[in-house]
Amino acid sequence: MIDLHCHILPGLDDGSPDLATSLAMARVALDDGIETIVATPHCFVDAGPRPDQIRTATQQLQAALADHNLPLTVLPGAEVRAHPQLAEMVSRSEVMTVADGGDYLLLEPPFIGIPNYLEQLCFELQIAGITPILAHPERAELAQHQPELCERLIERGCLIQVNAPSLHGQYGRVIRRIAADLIRRELVHIVASDAHNATSHPPVLGKVRRAVVQATGEDAFREMTELVPGEIIGAHQQETAPGW
Ligand SMILES: [Fe+2]
Repeated sequence: MIDLHCHILPGLDDGSPDLATSLAMARVALDDGIETIVATPHCFVDAGPRPDQIRTATQQLQAALADHNLPLTVLPGAEVRAHPQLAEMVSRSEVMTVADGGDYLLLEPPFIGIPNYLEQLCFELQIAGITPILAHPERAELAQHQPELCERLIERGCLIQVNAPSLHGQYGRVIRRIAADLIRRELVHIVASDAHNATSHPPVLGKVRRAVVQATGEDAFREMTELVPGEIIGAHQQETAPGW
């Protein structure tokens, strides 16, 4: 499986605080059947790690994984908070895209409030050749209060990523119901862990396999954890895979 949203890089955000935790997260991921992780530290237009920092941190973690005989591929990425000036920054290559490929951006809507510029931002990103992937809308007022906006963004070519912990109830019953409803209505393209550590919020996807399969059928889980993420990172991964 491929985990497209994971805070595994040490010391860059509120995810893994140190290398030992990142290695522990890698072991949990491998035990779960995850072979590739896109590392997605939180980024904001005026704060958070810049692309070069993320590239360097990813290379360092990949080297440490090899040193510890952990056959996990880590690719650079970022979870980028929505902002009206974001498309401009992306066009100046100041924002890390998924797998550094320049084709997809993991875009985080705010938890509170629904920005009136969101549709415009997604449109501007698409004009720049980038497909927005909306990170965990089930946790934001976006999907909670304006599901029709979610649907409209999908119709216009945006992708939706739901958190595995949302589906197994880690954030409560309301978010679980919204996530399950999105899955049932076939509005979800990707399920990812959004892991922040190896214990309370680990990189685990297999736990929600049954829930997804029950909601939408046998092939859906594989599509959301292998096929669609595989297409998203595909070309770039072949160029950068460490060759296990
Ligand atoms: Fe995240």
